[in-house]
Amino acid sequence: MKYPFLLVSFLFAATIFGQPADRTRLAPLPPMGWMTWNLCGDNINESIIRKMADVMESGGMVAAGYRYIMIDDGWQGGRDKKNNMVADSSRFPSGIKALAAYVHSKGIKLGIYSDAAPLTCAGYTASLNFEEQDAKTFASWDIDYLKYDYCHAPEDSATAKIRYTKMANALTASGRDIVFGICEWGGRQPWNWAATAGGSLWRTTGDVRDKWQAKPGEYGVGIMEIVNINAGLSRFAGPGRWNDPDMLIVGLYGAKGPSGDLGGIGCTDTEYQSQMSLWCIMASPLIASNDLANMNEITRRILLNREAIDINQDAAGHQGEQILNDENWLVLLKTLQNGDAALAILNKSGAARDTSVSLAALGLKGNYTIRDLWLHASVGKNNKWKGSIQAHETKLFRLIKK
Ligand code: GLA
Repeated sequence: MKYPFLLVSFLFAATIFGQPADRTRLAPLPPMGWMTWNLCGDNINESIIRKMADVMESGGMVAAGYRYIMIDDGWQGGRDKKNNMVADSSRFPSGIKALAAYVHSKGIKLGIYSDAAPLTCAGYTASLNFEEQDAKTFASWDIDYLKYDYCHAPEDSATAKIRYTKMANALTASGRDIVFGICEWGGRQPWNWAATAGGSLWRTTGDVRDKWQAKPGEYGVGIMEIVNINAGLSRFAGPGRWNDPDMLIVGLYGAKGPSGDLGGIGCTDTEYQSQMSLWCIMASPLIASNDLANMNEITRRILLNREAIDINQDAAGHQGEQILNDENWLVLLKTLQNGDAALAILNKSGAARDTSVSLAALGLKGNYTIRDLWLHASVGKNNKWKGSIQAHETKLFRLIKK
């Protein structure tokens, strides 16, 4: 190398001035897994986690790529005399490290949760001013992922950047590879700064409720409010840096819990399948939140659709681009690593509608086989498809280059 001195100086300056190390390698593909929040709220314990790990392994979810369990809010038992964070000993009597070992033995990684303020959203002990110490604690427990929330923190973006960067640096300094999930709900446009602050993913919206769409004036976002924000952010996503439109609500069916309160009335299976299609083509983290131990066949078929998951986990890491978003239709197009493409067409309206699509009109040159990823069959011909799409249904196609 011609200028080794310059490189060393740069690295030295970057370390001294707190520039976070490049953390994008930690999540080269959108993370997939299960998170406690929507089903359990803060009422969590180690047996729930063990049971979910068991059924994720036995039910084929691990094999399909769901490789994280995220413990959300409610695990904390305060700090010990040395200010080390401890788990609630009645809920986690064996401790988090033993739980991590159990989960790891199933081929699953373990995530945990904290907040960039003195208290979390549900009022538990959080990490402000204890970043280094807490990151070391999480690393010593063999934690693989941290969801870092923003309740009780100041509104401005500058403080958010400082607080998130501080925790990202602490995670790096812990010496363990810990994926950092930024959760400030999109208010400070994290797509502009969260990757630089050390995040591998960042929530783009408020908490998902178990509903298709909010009624005018109603509190809480459904699938459609989230999609309307997240679908326009494709240019910010890429390998190691993902827009996170929150958990999958597939299979919740209006169950009690955080996503069911405040108007979360449940969705139809068609709507749940649409969420999966849209999250797959948007290269969104696929974080299930339903009761994996009691899934019906339809939920299982939705969550375990390998062909849809392949679109999500495509190595090129593109988020599907929004081609059209009008009153009735949302159309997203995603280019894939091998030259294929994925196409999603959502009928947003309240009634079935006929439509047709020509791949040439979408700018796709050459010849393609159009494969319907829910029918698992080839459809259409001569680079054209036409058919009927049900209300709130999403057609998800793989366009296979001939
Ligand atoms: C916030 C987050 C949720 C969840 C709760 C926990 O609302 O956005 O995803 O983590 O806090 O209290």
